[in-house]
Amino acid sequence: MKKIYTAILLSAALFTFVSGQSDILIPVSTHNTDLIFKVGNDHRLYQVYYGPKLLQTPDSKRFPRPVHLAYVTSGTDNLFEPAVRITHNDGNPSLELNYVSHQTEKTDENVTNTHIRLKDPQHPVEVILHFKAFARENVMEQWVEIVHQEKKPVTVYNYASSLLHFDAPKYWLTQFHGDWAEEMKMQENELTSGIKILDSKLGARAHMYQTPVFFLSLNEKSGENSGELIAGTLGWSGNFRFLFEVDEKNSLRVISGINPFASEYLLQPGKSFVTPPFIFTYSAQGKGYASRNLHRWAMNYGIMDGKESRLTLLNNWETTYFDFNEEKLTALLDDTKKMGLDLFLLDDGWFANKYPRNNDRAGLGDWQENKTKLPNGVGFLVKEAEKRAVKFGIWIEPEMVNPKSELYETHPDWVLKLPNRPEHYFRNQLVLDLINPEVQDFVYNLVDGMLTRFPGLAFFKWDCNRMMTNTYSVYLKDRQSHVYVDYVNGLYRVLDRLRQKYPHVPMMLCSGGGGRVDYGAMRYFTEFWASDDTDPVERIYIQWGYSYFFPALSVCNHVTSWGKQSVKFRTDVAMMGKMGFDIQVNEFNEKELAFCQEAVKNYKRLSEVIWRGDLYRLVSPYEENRAVLMYVSPGKDKALLFSYTMNIRYGENFNNARLQGLDATRTYAVQEINQFPGTMSLYPTKRLYTGDYLMNVGLNVTSFQPLTSSVIEITAE
Ligand code: DGJ
Repeated sequence: MKKIYTAILLSAALFTFVSGQSDILIPVSTHNTDLIFKVGNDHRLYQVYYGPKLLQTPDSKRFPRPVHLAYVTSGTDNLFEPAVRITHNDGNPSLELNYVSHQTEKTDENVTNTHIRLKDPQHPVEVILHFKAFARENVMEQWVEIVHQEKKPVTVYNYASSLLHFDAPKYWLTQFHGDWAEEMKMQENELTSGIKILDSKLGARAHMYQTPVFFLSLNEKSGENSGELIAGTLGWSGNFRFLFEVDEKNSLRVISGINPFASEYLLQPGKSFVTPPFIFTYSAQGKGYASRNLHRWAMNYGIMDGKESRLTLLNNWETTYFDFNEEKLTALLDDTKKMGLDLFLLDDGWFANKYPRNNDRAGLGDWQENKTKLPNGVGFLVKEAEKRAVKFGIWIEPEMVNPKSELYETHPDWVLKLPNRPEHYFRNQLVLDLINPEVQDFVYNLVDGMLTRFPGLAFFKWDCNRMMTNTYSVYLKDRQSHVYVDYVNGLYRVLDRLRQKYPHVPMMLCSGGGGRVDYGAMRYFTEFWASDDTDPVERIYIQWGYSYFFPALSVCNHVTSWGKQSVKFRTDVAMMGKMGFDIQVNEFNEKELAFCQEAVKNYKRLSEVIWRGDLYRLVSPYEENRAVLMYVSPGKDKALLFSYTMNIRYGENFNNARLQGLDATRTYAVQEINQFPGTMSLYPTKRLYTGDYLMNVGLNVTSFQPLTSSVIEITAE
């Protein structure tokens, strides 16, 4: 939560107080988009426009009778879902919000902040709507601050981050749902009258079934390059809710924010409730343009060290699980080196002594090296890695505990659980109560302690393998409805502290696969683990799904032995994002090893294009038995194309893929890379084509053999 704004914004002196209010228009603009508010004759604030940038901000009289309240309240004349609902300390359940003032300030040439202050005419309650507009990226953030000066606390039941209104003949909603090992399945449906909700009530690992992202297409379904839509996501790592309500006039309200489910908040006088940001972009050119907007925004603003490079790695989870010792690990360090990878990542199982972590039933929470497996400790391994000039990273799951652990024995009151019911486990573990400052210190000290003891430690994988059930915080006492919100704030407090002291240590966000992927957490993390499902065919769909909202450098893909496909196919699939390996390198035959070493070299040589290039999804796996996508460098001088054939039906034909994003007037050399030794290539040597040819005639890039792939490098002459 953006507490820092509180002090600034409550100082009335900074605001522009305005009389003659009904003429006021407040535009929030990026290079290509306008979102415009108007103060009505009734002093309320209305949204009057959201769409492509207007050549001129219209005269306010152009919007004579605005109808869409910017932030709809409850308890007076509103008949539909409110954005905010409050009960005052005297029990009065109504809220009205009138415009008071607004302020716009440019923080630099790209970012403009707008703050609109609203106030109830009867009660000392204020709501401040905050907008941050990123001009070049065409992305906006909206969040809300609620504050009051009543004598006693008020109860806030609903506190959306954003409310947007749309008027179109039809609305199509694209959502991304799933489960463990089947994340990000895309579904698109027409919205009909009434309410459709996408939400989570899972607390921790909150996005296990539903990722907090959506596309809303207006008029008709949008394609990759056509159609009008918004892409939206919430920067919040807990319960979220996107609510879409189509009313009797076919108008649509989109209300986005923390899920108010079981989360009414008692707000003390003078204290601010600050919501997380709703992050959204508008596109009149389909989903591809929206994704590229979000990717650029993410790299510039949304992700920890989004402009920096990432480390390739060898992980040991799927190769050893809990069964390893120093000898095995040092051999894996050798493999890391042999493969040309940057870092070795030691996964789960390295800790706990009284209840050794030899499976997932014990030891979680006891973060001391297991003396049997690691008699010389983590420090020894860090040094061994240094000797080989590779870096060393480590897995932790600091928010959780096994009941069979010393931590639980010492601090039974540190877990979230109902006092009067049997403990309920998921993966044999419980969630620690991160609302309790002592627990926050414990988690902070764990990471801080490790980085202090082992200064060479270069990477963390931060896991979170269960949701909340039987949710009850001993620490919160009679404020149990704060638990879901305060938990996430507790987590952010720890991460804030860690990032103050260690601003750049790369950290992978993991949550039993991709169970916690959002831009609230990504402010602290450099990347995320997309799914435990590493079967490359499944993975194409999962990575495709994430690619709509998250840039390639943040999506961790590992080459493993799930699936029976060739090492080439698995590697080519992993290479479209942040590549790593989690496979028995010592079981590779000579050709496989040579191929992987070459692929790692290619990846390093071309990673700037993958990480920072513009993504064009050319052929969707949801439409054909293949997937084709490409990245184009910002200067259009280098591109990399990935083509995957999942299956081929009798008589099926794959047309040329028409490339996108190149310069039509330039000549490009096209050559296949990542060739498996001894195999035929589509483009074995450089062939020259004009950008115009590549984008209009296209290239034959897809093999007709199931489970094959090609990676094609395209270089401007
Ligand atoms: C779940 C993660 O998704 C896996 O990658 C692995 O780290 C295991 N947890 C370890 O317990």
